[in-house]
Amino acid sequence: MNAIANSEIKIWYKAAREEDFPQNGGACVKYKNIQVAVFNFSRRNEWYACQNLCPHKMQMALSRGMIGTLNDEPKVACPFHKKNFSLRSGECLNAEEEKISTYPVKVEGGFVYIGFSF
Ligand code: FES
Repeated sequence: MNAIANSEIKIWYKAAREEDFPQNGGACVKYKNIQVAVFNFSRRNEWYACQNLCPHKMQMALSRGMIGTLNDEPKVACPFHKKNFSLRSGECLNAEEEKISTYPVKVEGGFVYIGFSF
């Protein structure tokens, strides 16, 4: 379901406690110089992570976007101009927009980890 396979993950970054993320919402986490939007999609009992940067107008905004589904595809809508991005593939679903990076997420022992391949 995530853009990179588990075998490619070099580090599981311990981002924060599970309860630090709002239910059915997102929060921004910094790893090195990357802002990552992490989503607790509790309605689906799923977690997702993607770049926080919206490629449309280069706004650090996706963590504040609204999450939902389109034909069962989990997605986030940028709060600025409502471009929708798949939280699985990173593809833009409603415009000709650059694909965003997505990252695997796991929850263990009450902590949320993000997988990076670099
Ligand atoms: S800045 Fe995100 S949709 Fe325009």
